Amino acid sequence: MNTLEVVILAAGKGTRMYSSTPKVLHKIGGKALLAHVIQSAQDIDAKAIHVVVGFGGEQVQQQIQADNINWAVQAEQLGTGHAVAQALPGIDQDSVVLVLYGDVPLIKQETLKDLVQACNADSLALLTVNSSDATGLGRIIRNDQQQAVAIVEEKDANASQKLIKETNSGILAAPAKRLAKWLEALSPKNAQGEYYLTDIIAMAVADNCAVQTLTVDDELEVLGVNNKAQLAQLERHYQYRKSAALLNSGVTLFDPNRIDIRGNLECGKDVEIDVNTIFEGNVSLGNNVRIGPNVFIKNSVIGDNTQIFANSHIEESTIAQSCSIGPFARLRTGTHLNNGSKIGNFVETKKANIGQGSKVNHLSYVGDAIVGENVNIGAGTIFCNYDGVNKFQTRIHDGVFIGSNTAIVAPVEVGKGASIGAGSTLTKDVGENELAVARGRQRNIEGWKRPEKK
Ligand code: UD1
Ligand code: CA
Repeated sequence: MNTLEVVILAAGKGTRMYSSTPKVLHKIGGKALLAHVIQSAQDIDAKAIHVVVGFGGEQVQQQIQADNINWAVQAEQLGTGHAVAQALPGIDQDSVVLVLYGDVPLIKQETLKDLVQACNADSLALLTVNSSDATGLGRIIRNDQQQAVAIVEEKDANASQKLIKETNSGILAAPAKRLAKWLEALSPKNAQGEYYLTDIIAMAVADNCAVQTLTVDDELEVLGVNNKAQLAQLERHYQYRKSAALLNSGVTLFDPNRIDIRGNLECGKDVEIDVNTIFEGNVSLGNNVRIGPNVFIKNSVIGDNTQIFANSHIEESTIAQSCSIGPFARLRTGTHLNNGSKIGNFVETKKANIGQGSKVNHLSYVGDAIVGENVNIGAGTIFCNYDGVNKFQTRIHDGVFIGSNTAIVAPVEVGKGASIGAGSTLTKDVGENELAVARGRQRNIEGWKRPEKK
């Protein structure tokens, strides 16, 4: 077996995106188009990955974090053949070169493996597709024996060639040594004045190098992104693949068309996910987790039997088993809920450890806090963790009861079993089992007369 090196073409400007962001940095499933293609190259164990950049090249290199990428710069876009030639000096002569496009993100690993398999020192492998609309694409020309003998670009095609529906996906595998020779011989004498990579097909035939073709069934697998409509179309297709995989693994999706996964979602058994839910980064859901509608979860772990109600927003948090969250809860970075704890509506938490069985049911802010077990935090309690300059921590020990509308001016420690009267403003520690009341006393004035209109 020859070693495999991958060249990814990513120099295009993407004029029709109408964006200052280079085309290959636009995202599908929360990940740059180019990052998807690099991932595909890694998945098939490429020995080296060469990315040809041009427009916005520096920005592309900065934003794509991947190991062992060889960047090649194509200063002027003189065509796909010219682009591949820019990467060639870094490529081992005895390898097989697989050419991918940085704006074709949904290519499957199996397809690439089959294509590479069909290529060796004396054989080139070309990926074709039967296009429902071939406009703008290169047409595959076959001889009487049905062998592919050339590719003709739309702009160079005659009327009968334009009727051909089999088109060039752009993806091909070729033996490096011969590829180098063919690229050297390319000429820009064509309708676009470009060095066409596609001209190597006819050269291979003339060179007695076999041309193998492989045809994909799914057009979207090789669809390139040229505009926002295609980006949106591929996003939906990508999400469809993700939700189909979840359904296949036994997850219940109330509507597979209304879930978005921008990263990796792992699910245990008997997970139920309602509509319009978004998962970002790495999210893991345990067994029997139920997610309500309009929930957003990013980089978090949700334990078994936990239920998340509608419109909750959870980020960088770990939730243990049998917890209850929302509706309308916001769990920010560093929230850790222990078993059986409960965060109710309009509650915000941040860097908060909530002990087993504790409840924060309504309208509270709990920030920079360590809360013990079986604590009850009344409605409208605010942990005042910030003095405008520094942040301070609050510690609430086991079994504490905090009355509604309490403000806790950190740093404060409330001892085990203590109670806090509603409406208190705590500025001092409270001892074990003490009752703290820190509010104005009620005065009732008898015979009070309301003022009269003058
Ligand atoms: C190319 C193929 C065509 C095929 C189509 C599939 C050629 C001559 N034509 O068409 O047969 O049906 O793809 O989409 O190869 N690029 C560079 N540098 C360049 C030119 C292009 O890096 O100088 C990159 C682009 O960023 C893009 C890819 O190569 O990722 C293809 O370029 P594009 O202009 O979209 O391809 P076409 O010429 O339209
Ligand atoms: Ca294109």
